Amino acid sequence: MINKMTIQNLDLKGKKVLCRVDFNVPLDDEGNISDDTRIVAALPTIRHIVEQGGRLILASHLGRPKGTPDERYSLAPVAPHLAGLLGRNVAMAPDCIGPEVLSLTNKMQDGDVLLLENVRFHAGETKNDPAFSRKLAELADLYVNDAFGAAHRAHASTEGVAHILSPAAAGFLMEKELRYLGQAIAAPARPFVAILGGAKVSDKITVIENLLTKVDTLLIGGGMAYTFLKARGISVGGSLVEEDRIGMAGELLKKAVERGVELLLPEDHVIADAFKADANARTTDGVEIPEGWMALDIGPKSIDRYTGMLKNAATVIWNGPMGVFEFDAFARGTMAIAHALAESEALTIIGGGDSVAAVNKSGLSDRMSHISTGGGASLEFLEGKELPGIAALSNKD
Ligand code: 3PG
Repeated sequence: MINKMTIQNLDLKGKKVLCRVDFNVPLDDEGNISDDTRIVAALPTIRHIVEQGGRLILASHLGRPKGTPDERYSLAPVAPHLAGLLGRNVAMAPDCIGPEVLSLTNKMQDGDVLLLENVRFHAGETKNDPAFSRKLAELADLYVNDAFGAAHRAHASTEGVAHILSPAAAGFLMEKELRYLGQAIAAPARPFVAILGGAKVSDKITVIENLLTKVDTLLIGGGMAYTFLKARGISVGGSLVEEDRIGMAGELLKKAVERGVELLLPEDHVIADAFKADANARTTDGVEIPEGWMALDIGPKSIDRYTGMLKNAATVIWNGPMGVFEFDAFARGTMAIAHALAESEALTIIGGGDSVAAVNKSGLSDRMSHISTGGGASLEFLEGKELPGIAALSNKD
């Protein structure tokens, strides 16, 4: 990985370790955790610190409270959940800074775990306020960042505090994310294929631009495909189109040709007469979409073509579904990609957000090489941006 210190370089015994994790997990209406993937993903780091005799102080955000305490975003439900996973007590702090929390941390014994309350209950967090960073730093001797999902945020607990607490090291999850995503971007086994989908071209322009300098093949599906098709002069009926991005889509198509990247767009579609699960649906013969219909999934010829490309791939990155997979009638394209990746020998990396939900829905998650815990973070990484939470960590030498 990058030349940053990792948790394995640290002597943790008897040390108070401030560990930033991304416990930004979904909660249901009753406040129960509905998906604990991110908590489970941080367990190797948590267990390591505890087993090495560190005194573990966990910090995270949850949701987007407005810089003030808001019960709906309390991390309190996470403490018993984590305790269950760890098989040991996890104490819950009433806040993340202040005299009461300081006194709790000073009473900790080796192997104890304390979960701080949501760091975003203080405005200083998202403002990356140095005074708030100092208060967080005052709680501990060392800093570990395992919150890849929040590494694109230059906030106090992800960035500011790393300049105060030394050493500041990457946790195992952070390291793993960087190893997989970093290898794919820096030294991919070829052919390297990226599959990009999702609703909007505007969200993915920089990713596409960067990937066009790396990949051999780019497969495009999902809502964003129709802006590209329109840029090619194809009629797309009532499909989702970002009119103000058609020019940019045309530029990207041109760049792909200039760079010798094979860029594939859907050649047929599953179309619907309305955006709803039980809409009338049919499959087109060709690429044109009639008026009064909208494409909600890629069609069978496109599936064959895309999955055929994946058979020869050595590295695959997938970000964004091929259609409205939340509706069963329009899930086939997305599920076919998930199956093709599950059967592939390639290094398969699922980059965040909706594609992770799709892979989970397919039941094939354990057959992917790596599923990123970062949505925005993995996108920014694929855009080639430096992530502030990583840049701020201590260098190895
Ligand atoms: C995420 O869910 O992508 C991360 O936890 C970051 O959350 P944020 O977008 O609210 O900063």
